[in-house]
Amino acid sequence: MNPTPETIERVEELRQAIDYHNRRYYVNDDPQIPDAEYDRLMQELQELEHRFPSLINQHSPTQRVGDKPLSHFDEVAHRVSMLSLDNAFDEVEMQDFERRIRERLKLSAEQPLFFLAEPKLDGLAINLRYENGCLILGATRGDGSRGENVTSNVRTINAIPLNLQGDWPKVLEVRGEVFMPRAGFEAFNEHARNASEKTFVNPRNAAAGSLRQLDPRITAQRPLTFLSYGFGEVIPGQSQSNLSERITALRDLGIPTSPLMEVVEGVAGCIDYYKRIAKLRDDLPYDIDGVVFKVDDLSFQEKLGFVSRAPRWAVAYKFPAQEELTQVDVVEFQVGRTGAVTPVARLQPVFVGGVTVSNATLHNMDEVKRKDVRAGDTVVVRRAGDVIPEVVSVILDKRPDSSQPVVLPTRCPVCDSEIIIADGEAVARCSGGLYCPAQRKEAIKHFASRKAMDIEGLGDKLVEQLVEQQLINTPADLYSLSLEQLSGLERMAEKSAQNLLDALSKSKQTTLNRFLYGLGIREVGEATAQSLAQQFLTLSGIEQADEESLQETPDVGPIVAAHIVSFFRQPHNREVIDDLLEAGIEWPEIIRVEAEQTLLAGKVFVLTGTLSQPRDEIKEILIAQGAKVTGSVSSKTDYLVAGEAAGSKLAKADKLGVEILDEDALNILLNNVSQ
Ligand code: IVH
Repeated sequence: MNPTPETIERVEELRQAIDYHNRRYYVNDDPQIPDAEYDRLMQELQELEHRFPSLINQHSPTQRVGDKPLSHFDEVAHRVSMLSLDNAFDEVEMQDFERRIRERLKLSAEQPLFFLAEPKLDGLAINLRYENGCLILGATRGDGSRGENVTSNVRTINAIPLNLQGDWPKVLEVRGEVFMPRAGFEAFNEHARNASEKTFVNPRNAAAGSLRQLDPRITAQRPLTFLSYGFGEVIPGQSQSNLSERITALRDLGIPTSPLMEVVEGVAGCIDYYKRIAKLRDDLPYDIDGVVFKVDDLSFQEKLGFVSRAPRWAVAYKFPAQEELTQVDVVEFQVGRTGAVTPVARLQPVFVGGVTVSNATLHNMDEVKRKDVRAGDTVVVRRAGDVIPEVVSVILDKRPDSSQPVVLPTRCPVCDSEIIIADGEAVARCSGGLYCPAQRKEAIKHFASRKAMDIEGLGDKLVEQLVEQQLINTPADLYSLSLEQLSGLERMAEKSAQNLLDALSKSKQTTLNRFLYGLGIREVGEATAQSLAQQFLTLSGIEQADEESLQETPDVGPIVAAHIVSFFRQPHNREVIDDLLEAGIEWPEIIRVEAEQTLLAGKVFVLTGTLSQPRDEIKEILIAQGAKVTGSVSSKTDYLVAGEAAGSKLAKADKLGVEILDEDALNILLNNVSQ
């Protein structure tokens, strides 16, 4: 069946619309329709072409992906050589660049000299040849005079128009950079990692690897994009006298160019531009490795000409490299303030990203294994912006024969307690929470905190001072502090020292769940501490429990159980606990609340508004009766206890039909329960 004139017209209309929206997106950076709408246009076109194959031609936006892999890339000779750039690394070299140009052009000091300025994209150079407005060739730079024909791959890049718009010259070669934006690179690598496939070390390699695929269907799946910065052969020659005008004219033809392009004056303008782009660098969606300056006046460019393979009229002012090679001396393990044990590579000092780097974090053992970093290895180190330096990859060719894989130590390098990795966690941890000097400050702050031992007046700053002055090493040492020691501290009057001693003494009367929570066992929060206390009734019961019996406690799974067992297995932790009990910490005996016996068993409460007692206290009473207390109202909530000035929670409970209690009603309920 032949297409009707209406169908032919519609196909043409769709092609034009798709090209137009592509330009809005890639050239103007101002998309007009949502992606889904764009996809619908494409789909409609595909369907029509499927029904009427005679309508398909090379220039249709559906024909970006061919269907046959190539056996090799053909070689192509460039009609105009593809040059490279000289580099400048500091302001002095930039001043030399301007001075040389002024001398050659015999410009007087008063005559201005303008440069076109652009970021230097970190991808690979490509030459696109359009004849009669149609893309007919895409070629890599190769050795500058001959490159590879990668047309079928280039056609898959949506930012590269297959057809030019407007008033194109008969032959137009545009040059620019094909690159992979960072987000696409990260997504690609994540996907590859999950599928256990090869990852790329950086976006530049990813772009190069993707463009040099023999199967264009693979290239089509890679998130490549393109910006143009120059020209090859153009017939007939162009009339504009400045490069910036010619680049701007490219946009009208539908070719994307850098939105950061500017014309700047003299070396001062260049340096200012360099500094501004350096600040933007980490926020750009793609990698750049410097900025490029080109003399804007085309007649000047002609007079200046070339030396070997670089033009005299252009320079790349490079940013400090973000990646360098160095050697790993040793992989050590650091213990953080929460007990996380982190592998760190100690490096031969190397200047990267503007600073000298001699350590790089390896995050965790999974990462060490994945990258297989070893002592003696030569590695790529990356430091981008303010991000902490990291080892990107190992150069395996340079690995010494004697090298051994890194193993996680079994004992903490700081306190010699056991190191454990809970099932399903990547992070290894020191289990000497109460004793380990690396964790000391955090452990004591947590012990003193409101929901734990609630030692009034013992804030974080004071704990830090006490530890730094070596007045305390463990939470137990708090209870042997003297008035003299305390009043000798900075900003501590005798009165407040005495208050603190009183608070310490008061904190000795506590509950088992507060005490348990205060020990800071990994994963044992308030609610878990409460459940453990209810389940085992005594501290020694918990201390002696094995993982299996711990898991009989509500909300305690294998990970929590493993943390509890390894905590109590550390002799140092047990010593600190003994010292605490010795200091006189005690709690009332717990009477088991049989869940079934109370009316509140399993009931879910939410507390809101101002109540006559602190919420924590009411919460403890409710929990002791088998109830659960949560923070937000949902359909699972049984009661909302609402005090003065209750707000949104009250409204929500009302809406959901949750029973609402004022304090009196709560007290009646509690009295009924305890009878
Ligand atoms: S101009 C004759 N401008 O850098 C001038 N090059 O080191 C030729 N590059 O091969 C290049 N961004 O791949 C120019 N805005 C830019 C650039 C740029 C990246 C690359 C290009 C070139 C290499 C030279």
